[in-house]
Parts: sequence; structure tokens; C-alpha cells
Amino acid sequence: MSPRTIVVIGATGAQGGAVVRELLQYPNAYRIRALTRDPSKPAAQSLIAMGVDVHQVDLDDGQEKLAAVFAGAHIIYGLTDFWQKQSAADELAQGKAIVEAAAQTDSLRHFIWSTLPDPVELSSGRFLNVHHWKSKSLVTEYIQREHPGLWAKTTAILFPNYFENCVNFPGRYLPTRDASGTYTLAFPHSPTTVMPNVSIADTGALVRAVLEAGSTYFTKTIAFYSQALSEAEKLSVLEKKYNIPTKYCKASAEEFQKLLESCYNMASDVALDFTEQLMIFEECGNVYARSEFVQVTEIPGLYLQTWSEYLDQNDLFSKIVENH
Ligand SMILES: NC(=O)c1ccc[n+]([C@@H]2O[C@H](COP(=O)([O-])OP(=O)(O)OC[C@H]3O[C@@H](n4cnc5c(N)ncnc54)[C@H](OP(=O)(O)O)[C@@H]3O)[C@@H](O)[C@H]2O)c1
Repeated sequence: MSPRTIVVIGATGAQGGAVVRELLQYPNAYRIRALTRDPSKPAAQSLIAMGVDVHQVDLDDGQEKLAAVFAGAHIIYGLTDFWQKQSAADELAQGKAIVEAAAQTDSLRHFIWSTLPDPVELSSGRFLNVHHWKSKSLVTEYIQREHPGLWAKTTAILFPNYFENCVNFPGRYLPTRDASGTYTLAFPHSPTTVMPNVSIADTGALVRAVLEAGSTYFTKTIAFYSQALSEAEKLSVLEKKYNIPTKYCKASAEEFQKLLESCYNMASDVALDFTEQLMIFEECGNVYARSEFVQVTEIPGLYLQTWSEYLDQNDLFSKIVENH
């Protein structure tokens, strides 16, 4: 059988990059077409150096341009990046353009959609400001409602908190050392509140497992996480691993939101969005464990890194020291 062509949106980023790195190991099975807004950027250049077919496109270019770059694809890995423009309306428009273009790609056999759950439905109307979840969930609904033929060959994946957030946003996710030498982490969670977590590098292994399973996960929504962990538990693993004294502090939602605004310059609506997504787990439990979602642990032959293993392979201690 000749290799199937997969178009990877976000190929220069965390999710798409992991998909590319995994599938590159199977050149007889997959031919990769990677999309970027800027083929001259270092991440795109390193894809080109690895022999990846890199194409320039902006999700804001609209469905016709996307359809042209999707032409002949058998698989599309689709994502939108809320954080670029921090606009749910723009994210929804980009998602719909991807869907429209995918729906008119005659060669398409499998659409993988990177998404998040509906925060309003999951919280029974309690959290109305988690816009970066809502916009992605509206795209999923759009596929189901407007393009049932595309939905019939779609696998939706719910992404969790990345372990890698500690590296990319150390100020928010790693403890800071106080005057007494204790490393303190504040989150708006009780010490026992768990969130789904994964190493985003494992996205490639998940996507390959889903693709190799043929139609098994068509019309399914997979909750992707290796462990449901509280921030306090993650901190105590750090404490043991690096032999440092730590302290977990529960901030109020308001305090946490203000911290995001003052320390990370977040606009107040974005800080509210960010804080409310965390509060869903505080108030509603681990919503990713609900039975309507396929639990990733049910996928045969797939191994996902634990937090402890992630720490064995990544030196967060130097990040913690820098974070001081
Ligand atoms: N961090 C978390 O814990 C977490 C958890 C769940 C879900 N998510 C979601 O993950 C998404 C981001 O994915 P990621 O973590 O892989 O991001 P990332 O590492 O920051 O990479 C973003 C990717 O999106 C591409 N991109 C952004 N805007 C684009 C546009 N207008 N046209 C074409 N490509 C565009 C970028 O490509 P170029 O720059 O090369 O064009 C890049 O490859 C966000 O929507 C976020 O809500 C994150």
C-alpha cells in the first residue's frame, strides 16, 4: 500500500510537531504535509531539513486556500490556536474554515480534530467565560450538525493540561522560592482537586494509535491524559525528586485571576477565561473521566508518560531555580 498523506496543522508547534516527529518514523505508511504561516521560521526549516513537505498557509486565509492545501490528503490533523489572537470569534471562524475545507476534500479518509469540551454543558451552566474551550466545542458541534459525512470519519481529541506548561510558562506552573527557602506554588484548587495531565510529546503516539485502529474511533471523543493529578501532588513529586521543601497554597479564584492580570499581563477577560477553566475541575471534578468520552487508557498498546517519568527525562530543577 502506498503511504497515506497527512496534512498537519500546527506542525511547528507542540501538538502538531509531536504528530510529525512520530509519523516521520513510518515513511512507508505516512507522507507528511506540514502547514505553517511562515516557512522561513526555524521550526519550519528544521521540518524541511527532516524531509517534510512544508506549505505556507494562514488559517485566516479562509476555506478556499485551505481546501487547496488539503487537496489529495487522506488524513488531516486539525487544530486552532486560541492563544495567538485570544479571540473566540476568530478561533471559531478558523475552525469552521478548516471543517469546510476538510468536508470538500474528496480523498479524505480520517479527520482528527484537536478540541476541548463544552464548558457550559459540563458545568451545567455554571462557568460561562471559558471562551477558548467553548469556541473549540462549537466547531465540534458544527461538524456534527453541518457535515455529518465528515463527522462519520472524525475523531475528536480533548487535550488536557500539558506537563510541558512548566517549561513554557514556569512563572505560572512552577513553585517560587520564598525568603524562608520554601518553594511555594499557588493554584485556585484544593490540594485534592485533580486535573487531567499529559506530556504533549505523546500526542504523536496517540494519533498514530488512532490512525492504525482504522474506523474504531470514528465519531468518538477521546479524553487524552496519562494521569489525573492535583497540583499539590505534582508539587510533592517535585519535592522528593529535587529534595527541596515545598508548600502548596490554595488561592481564591479572584486572587488567581488578579495574579494572571498583574504578573502575566493577561487582559481581564482572558484571565477570567483561564481561571474559570481551572475552577471547572474544582467545582465539577475530573470532567474528562465522564463516560461519554473514550478514556485514552482504553486504547490498546498506547503508553503515555507519567509526571514522575517526565521529570526523570526533563530537568525542571534548573527552571525552578531560574523561576526564583
Ligand atoms: N497548553 C495547554 O495545556 C493546552 C491544553 C489543552 C488545549 N490547548 C490548546 O492547544 C492549542 C495550541 O496548540 P499547541 O499547544 O500545539 O500550540 P503551539 O505549540 O503554541 O503552536 C501553535 C501552532 O499553531 C499554528 N498556528 C497558530 N495560528 C495559526 C494560523 N493563523 N494559521 C496557521 N497556523 C497557525 C502555529 O504555526 P506557525 O506559527 O508556524 O504558523 C503553531 O504550529 C490552543 O488552542 C490551546 O487552547 C492547550
